[in-house]
Amino acid sequence: MQNIDYLKKNFQSDLFLIQSNDGLEQLRIKYLGRNGLINQALRNIKNLLPTDKKELGEKANKLKNSIIRLIEKRQKELFIKTDRKDYFDATLPGKAYPKGSLHVMTLAIEEIRKIFEKIGFIQVSYPEVEWEHFAFESLNMPKNHPARDDFETFFIDTSPDKKYGKMILTPHTSSGQVREMLRTKPPIKMINIAKCYRPNWDLTHAPMFYQFEGLCIDRGINISHLKGTVDYFAKEFFEPKREIRLRPHHFQFTEPSFEIDVSCGTCLGTGYVNKTSEVGQTYAVNENVATEKPRRFKVRTSEVNKAKCRVCKSGWMELGGAGIVHPKVLKAGGINPDKYSGWAFGFGPERCFMMKTGLSDIRDLYGGNIRFLEQF
Ligand code: PHE
Repeated sequence: MQNIDYLKKNFQSDLFLIQSNDGLEQLRIKYLGRNGLINQALRNIKNLLPTDKKELGEKANKLKNSIIRLIEKRQKELFIKTDRKDYFDATLPGKAYPKGSLHVMTLAIEEIRKIFEKIGFIQVSYPEVEWEHFAFESLNMPKNHPARDDFETFFIDTSPDKKYGKMILTPHTSSGQVREMLRTKPPIKMINIAKCYRPNWDLTHAPMFYQFEGLCIDRGINISHLKGTVDYFAKEFFEPKREIRLRPHHFQFTEPSFEIDVSCGTCLGTGYVNKTSEVGQTYAVNENVATEKPRRFKVRTSEVNKAKCRVCKSGWMELGGAGIVHPKVLKAGGINPDKYSGWAFGFGPERCFMMKTGLSDIRDLYGGNIRFLEQF
């Protein structure tokens, strides 16, 4: 009985060393041939007790079958390895082809759309190839106005229209404001998410990028409605503990105008993160103030000191521009500014996505690198 177990082990190590078909054939004869090791082990079977006979016979048979199978398998392997490259094994599992998925920006835009849909904003889209009139004149930026420089623009090489001026690639989604006012009457609750174009290409700017523009016009609309809406967006898109703040700014098409910031998720608007220091270690307090020499302090107890937040540096990150729609813009859209008022904002989904994920180079989003895109 032991003999069979012993043969089994020996066969495995013998097989392991075989590298050719001839070697395999010899191995087969060594174990399974008429005078092979298995038959030798069975030679004295007739002298055994009937129960032992049965057990030995069964074991030997099992071993024979497994030797046959293992030799066949090895034969196949050797065949693939050495003999033919075009060997086709129909029993091998098929290749799994990679599946496509939606682009990160498509997903981010969809998320933004849903957030505004929940509070009754309707998504609209307006032309990417636009007239100067809707991008500038109707937004209180007449020809040669210096504010137009802030919106560097790609011009289309066609003859200008008498009423609407030159054809351009829209540099911002604000071009949709007056178009929406002309399309429908207040109350207006619009979210316009669209591609915009400006000739820039660096870490934070791509020549094609998205903006999402919110526009709300009705009787009695004021800044608190703007604040409430953007605050709701920040809490939904980023996380509930985020806050927003408005900083005064200037746009020709809003008055007053603001830039809106969202508090940093890492330091929660403080600009500093806690850093536990070892007793005896020194730390600098004002190392980022260029004009002053940093003052160094020694940690006396195992106190917790503050380090500048690396994510935002100031506690806040800029979302984009906003303001109360200028009366001249309402008029251009055929709306009476004495009756109605409204707010508008224009933010970048790429920027929001980068702020949410910690991504630092906008070009990664549009580089088409599948290994990057697959992560989302
Ligand atoms: N259109 C402005 C920009 O692209 C943003 C903005 C939109 C500002 C709406 C105020 C109101 O910078």
